[in-house]
Amino acid sequence: MSLRFGRYICCAYRRLGIVGIYFTCVYFLIVYLLLISIDNTLHIDVETTRNIPIQTTALATSTPMPVTTIFPSKTYYMEIGDYPLAFDIKSFVEDTIQEHDLTNYSDIAPINPRQFTYVYRARKCRFDPKVKHKLLILVKSAAGNRDWRRKIRKTWGAEYSDGKTIKIVFLLAATEEETQVFVDYEARKFRDIVQENFLDSYRNNTYKTIMGYNWAMEFCPTASYVLFIDDDIRVNVDKLTTHIDDISRQPQQIIDNLYIGLLIPCGEPYRDNISKWYISYDEYPHEFWPPYLAGGAFLMSHMSALKFQLAIPYVTLVSIDDSYLGIVAKKLGIRPIDSLMYHSSGVYASLSIFQHQGKSSYKRIDRDGDTPFTSHTKLCFIGT
Ligand SMILES: *[C@@H]1O[C@H](CO)[C@@H](O)[C@H](O)[C@H]1NC(C)=O
Ligand SMILES: *[C@@H]1O[C@H](CO)[C@@H](O)[C@H](O)[C@H]1NC(C)=O
Ligand SMILES: *[C@@H]1O[C@H](CO)[C@@H](O)[C@H](O)[C@H]1NC(C)=O
Repeated sequence: MSLRFGRYICCAYRRLGIVGIYFTCVYFLIVYLLLISIDNTLHIDVETTRNIPIQTTALATSTPMPVTTIFPSKTYYMEIGDYPLAFDIKSFVEDTIQEHDLTNYSDIAPINPRQFTYVYRARKCRFDPKVKHKLLILVKSAAGNRDWRRKIRKTWGAEYSDGKTIKIVFLLAATEEETQVFVDYEARKFRDIVQENFLDSYRNNTYKTIMGYNWAMEFCPTASYVLFIDDDIRVNVDKLTTHIDDISRQPQQIIDNLYIGLLIPCGEPYRDNISKWYISYDEYPHEFWPPYLAGGAFLMSHMSALKFQLAIPYVTLVSIDDSYLGIVAKKLGIRPIDSLMYHSSGVYASLSIFQHQGKSSYKRIDRDGDTPFTSHTKLCFIGT
């Protein structure tokens, strides 16, 4: 063996000369260093996500869903001070739900009264009463994205067109006449379009989300869970059903405050005025958003959706819809729950219930500087 190796060296020396051997060594050194650095990157990932095994084992054994988050014990910087309106929205909402006397809140008027009216209201929910967990899926869709809607109706959504087990509706806003023609057609043919008369634009997304809550409470009050997704998301319904079964075995207190998805613990508003997500200090004065869930896919129970719907009229709007819901959650004392099942990219993507099918104008989850693992993250932890 060593003889043969010696012969290789001799041979290499004859062919390459000393300079050739030198460069070969340098080459291997570089490859080695590269491998080491890749390895380190992997180590960092494992380090930052080391609480994940709690979730994967729970998945495997199908014991109650892991409600611990990737960052279970940390407290996030989430100061929003007296973000208007400044009053105890949590008590107000609870008192409203429990039909308590509301005279203590009689001076308080909503700051976002409902401004818009429906163009289309979709068909009301009529679940089969035997279905255990009735699921409403609200798909936020740009009016012009009729191909994305068609794709959903033809692929994973096809089985649920009767709305007996899962009800799927699309949330749209007003658009120019030539696009509206198609929307009219879809609305009549499928009766799955919810549309209000505000302008369909990215910066009006918060209105669209609010419309979703209102519609869900008015026309789908029997849904036990409400899932919001973007129109370019493909849902693995089997995984979703298992996930919901797991959730439903959790204590009632968790279900009543359910707001679960891909957590963005320390998102920062974009202050660059050419950004699509630009937020001025007038619009939102703080350096961080409260922890919130990426808008691409997140799940709520009927009760938590009701709490959000009741609180929204009293919480000043911001034009980034998912960040806004983080503010509402904060006001309600509801803690967003992070789950790997919503991490549609990254190391654990194979666990995810949701896959991006491409880039629709609603793609949000992977936007720069807004992932859970960015380096500024530690700035917003308290005490670590
Ligand atoms: C109104 O607020 C006061 C003081 O916070 C409290 O003592 C009282 O119980 C409240 N009344 C109702 C009906 O909630
Ligand atoms: C949002 O919708 C309203 C009502 O249609 C409209 O006046 C406003 O211009 C829209 N905002 C944006 C940023 O498109
Ligand atoms: C954006 O910000 C730059 C510098 O901060 C300023 O000069 C510019 O006028 C702003 N543009 C707009 C449209 O506000």
